[in-house]
Amino acid sequence: MRILVLHGPNLNLLGAREPEVYGHATLEEIDRDLEAWAREHGVTLKVVQSNHEGRLIDEIHASRGACDGILINPGGLGHTSVALRDALAAAPPAVTVHLSNVHAREPFRQVDLIAPVCVGGVFGFGPDAYRLGLDALTRHLAPRARPPQQA
Ligand code: DQA
Repeated sequence: MRILVLHGPNLNLLGAREPEVYGHATLEEIDRDLEAWAREHGVTLKVVQSNHEGRLIDEIHASRGACDGILINPGGLGHTSVALRDALAAAPPAVTVHLSNVHAREPFRQVDLIAPVCVGGVFGFGPDAYRLGLDALTRHLAPRARPPQQA
C-alpha cells in the first residue's frame, strides 16, 4: 500500500512554532514516527511538506494512480482553499489531520473545507493525530489492497 503524506504551510516550523499550541515535536520526528509505523505495517510512504498551495495540489494530482491514499495536514489552507478541496475530491481517499483541536480554537479555524471530501479526520492529540490518521486510512483501504480472492 502506498500513501502520500502531505504537510501544508508552516508545518516545517513545528517544534519552534507556537509550542504552547503545537507542542515540541519537530516535523522530522513526526515523519520518523510515521515511517517506523509504516515499515511495521508494510506501507510505503511518500512524504512532502510545502508552503505552496500549488505544489500540494500538484502532488495530489500526481498521486492519482500512484498512491492508494492520502494523509494530509493542510495547515491553514484547510480553512480557506477551495482549490485544495477540489484536488482532493478528485484524488485517492484522504484522511485529514490537525495537531490541535481546531474546533476549540478561533471561529475561522472551525471552517473546514477539506473534511467533507475526506474519508474522515483526526484533530487534537498533537503528533499522535498523524499516526492515528494513518492507521485509520490504511484500515479503510485494506480491503482494496488485499489480493483478489481465489475462485
Ligand atoms: C494546524 C491547524 C491550522 O489551523 C493551522 O493553521 C496550522 C496547524 C494543526 O495541525 O493544528 O498550521 O493544521
